[in-house]
Amino acid sequence: MDSIIVTGNGPLNGQIPIAGAKNACLALMPATLLSEEPLTLTNAPRLSDIKTMTELLRSLGAEVTSMQNGQVQAMSSHNLATTRADYEIVRKMRASNLVLGPLLARAHHAEVSLPGGCAIGARPMDIHISALEAMGAQIELRDGYLHAKAPGGLKGAVHELRFASVGATENVVMAATLAKGTTVLKNAAREPEIVDLVQCLRKMGAQIEGEGSSTITIEGVDRLHGATHPVVTDRIELGTYMLAPAICGGEVELLGGRIELVEAFCEKLDQAGIAVEETANGLKVARRNGRVSAVDVVTEPFPGFPTDLQAQMMALMCTAEGTSVLEERIFENRFMHAPELVRMGAQIDVQGGIATVTGVDKLKGAPVMATDLRASVSLILAGLAAEGETIVNRVYHLDRGYERVEEKLRNVGAKIERVSGS
Ligand code: EPU
Repeated sequence: MDSIIVTGNGPLNGQIPIAGAKNACLALMPATLLSEEPLTLTNAPRLSDIKTMTELLRSLGAEVTSMQNGQVQAMSSHNLATTRADYEIVRKMRASNLVLGPLLARAHHAEVSLPGGCAIGARPMDIHISALEAMGAQIELRDGYLHAKAPGGLKGAVHELRFASVGATENVVMAATLAKGTTVLKNAAREPEIVDLVQCLRKMGAQIEGEGSSTITIEGVDRLHGATHPVVTDRIELGTYMLAPAICGGEVELLGGRIELVEAFCEKLDQAGIAVEETANGLKVARRNGRVSAVDVVTEPFPGFPTDLQAQMMALMCTAEGTSVLEERIFENRFMHAPELVRMGAQIDVQGGIATVTGVDKLKGAPVMATDLRASVSLILAGLAAEGETIVNRVYHLDRGYERVEEKLRNVGAKIERVSGS
């Protein structure tokens, strides 16, 4: 397994291009199952999770090609090979459950393996299930699979999600595009990835209103057609790299970055003493003073502070002046990076969903273990600011969500290399 070696090397300066959003692309790709015409996604990130979704869609009988230039072409023109999303693929990536809604809409039945828990939490699917049941689906769990059917097709319904789940919103919106009648989804998630999905579905002929608000209304249509759609900028990759100059000093421009994708995050950066400036090509980030100030963070659904930036923000807070309290409200077990940061000299006390971080002057390099995608990158960020060498082991998580991370950071002056393991 590969490791990444990072050596603290002072301020970072230059530009980092931000890729298309992993989590948008993972929702957009299954939309191909809703139409027999080709769906072309441009600005798709080159990540192992995208490969896994490609593998899943191919296993269902879709044709999917990824080009070097970040274009993904997908088509499911003929009868699907199967409507079964196999455990062997689903277990690798939870977002595989995003084929459930499209398969039900297209084939009126689907068998999708339950993904199981993951490092950050149990992550059940009850919210997806209740919403699809409200639309007339009958769903039962057998042999580890959700067996779903909607004889005669799904029907529009008025339904309120018990929590604004991103994945459930995506599944329901996709399913409702081909349902009979109108679906009104209340307490829908408002993330930019959902807005992006709706914009693509609309290009495919879907009738949807309200994306970005908590009520989304979908008028079912008979069929959808092909479309070409650019994947929205990855706000989590953006926020992650915004933290690099915040932690190390220097000034870095994030190409393609937009404030509206990371507004709550920018507010916290501002309070911590980090300047963010809009430029013609993106966002420029620099630390205002010598040391950042401690700030408190509570993770919330969009437009709140994203859970996917909590680990990285914790890395920043490790060397801040004062004590910060980070409260994780989305996932029950998303502080696995904390004990690793402690190995680097951080002072962190975790009690349930609350981590209290007391800033220290300097972190010290150490061998650490990456436990999930965002934890991995938080350890790299911490390593960039630490004295000496940090070896981040088990970095395969990183390749799920960050393309060319070493190259992007090396280009702004970081000392970082990948070492291939056996
Ligand atoms: N939840 C339930 N029941 C459900 C669905 C969700 O209890 O049926 C709970 C989850 O267990 C979790 C919370 O609700 O505690 C939020 O889950 P949500 O469904 O909103 O998340 P998701 O769709 O599974 C997406 C991203 C995650 C991101 C979350 C929250 C994708 C592919 N994944 O997951 O991204 O953290 O939204 O914003 O879009 C990542 O990229 O590192 C990542 C984990």
